Amino acid sequence: MHDVEAIRVYPRALIDHSALRHNLAVVRRHAPVSRVWAVIKANGYGHGMVQIGSSLQSADGLAVARVEEALRLRRAGICAPILVLEGFLLGHELAAACEHRLELALHEPGQVSLLEQTALARPLRVWIKVDTGMHRLGFDPREVQAVLERLAGNPRVDGLPGLMTHLANADDTRDGLAQLQCERLRALDPAARYSLSIGNSAGILAFPASRMHWVRPGIMLYGASPLAGKTAAELGLRPVMSLQTRLVAVRFLRRGEAIGYGGTYVCPEDMKVGVAAVGYGDGYPRHAPTGTPVLIKGKRVPLVGRVSMDMISIDLRAVPDAAMGDPVTLWGQDLPVDEIAERAGTISYELLCHITARVRKVHMHAAEPQTLATPA
Ligand SMILES: Cc1ncc(COP(=O)(O)O)c(C=O)c1O
Repeated sequence: MHDVEAIRVYPRALIDHSALRHNLAVVRRHAPVSRVWAVIKANGYGHGMVQIGSSLQSADGLAVARVEEALRLRRAGICAPILVLEGFLLGHELAAACEHRLELALHEPGQVSLLEQTALARPLRVWIKVDTGMHRLGFDPREVQAVLERLAGNPRVDGLPGLMTHLANADDTRDGLAQLQCERLRALDPAARYSLSIGNSAGILAFPASRMHWVRPGIMLYGASPLAGKTAAELGLRPVMSLQTRLVAVRFLRRGEAIGYGGTYVCPEDMKVGVAAVGYGDGYPRHAPTGTPVLIKGKRVPLVGRVSMDMISIDLRAVPDAAMGDPVTLWGQDLPVDEIAERAGTISYELLCHITARVRKVHMHAAEPQTLATPA
């Protein structure tokens, strides 16, 4: 149960941990024989990395981008296996990874050299990241055999390395690259000796060939859709974050009056307009245009004019009884973050990650009220 202040505070991001666990079960249904690295980098996609990591103890491990993120999890007492997707850059990160039993991706010859030169207290588990077509990080497939041979003689490496790759276009199910990337990785292990890891959320849902020994879901755990043209609800996913605030003012404006910075919205008639306490200073996207929906009293109503740092204006003509203090949902249940992202010309990942420190996160672990109570 959370404190009374957290129930009253606004804006707030309600984090529904039962939805998180539900979404992990969806991953398991799609990839029943794979083990799961739950990807919780970038502060758990904005949801709170430590709380999300603690809730996902039934995943087989947690994946973050950087050593520092992994160390934060360890400092918080999380002892699950952790994979660092970017591996390490500096010697002290390697030593810390060793001390804290982190698994490291190796994508660069310099990392292999550092691993050969650094004395370690115990051997480390490593994953070779292969560039099968994304051309961001990773060894060219033609280099992989030589890297494997180099690592085979290295006492700092614990057992056989894993082989991993990242899909570039799996969100577009008509694109042939994902299938090709899966085939390129599998071709590196004809004798089936190594652990392979391919699928991200889109791969898990749309490309069976990517469901190898380990999958690495991120966005689907948080209840957003990784696939173009499919909603999260259609995929059986539940939103984890609800971003909520309140109306701090209700105004009556006259026909012809312009609203907000730049006066980009001009009232077409005398109308009731609300002002809600949320803006780009909270992580709400500044580029959300007039017409982007918010939810008030269960109804979708459009924001009007420009998003400012602390506030947005809302056309209240469809909710004539809306009053100061009423709750406003910016995304969450019945208003998918994917839809808001599309309106703002971005992706759900960015909106979720961009929630700022000013927004109080309220972590809900059981069935508790989902909406802000109307103030007494
Ligand atoms: C290497 C790697 N694996 C897995 C993921 C998870 O991807 P998604 O959130 O699309 O499931 C990411 C996210 O960017 C990643 O960089």
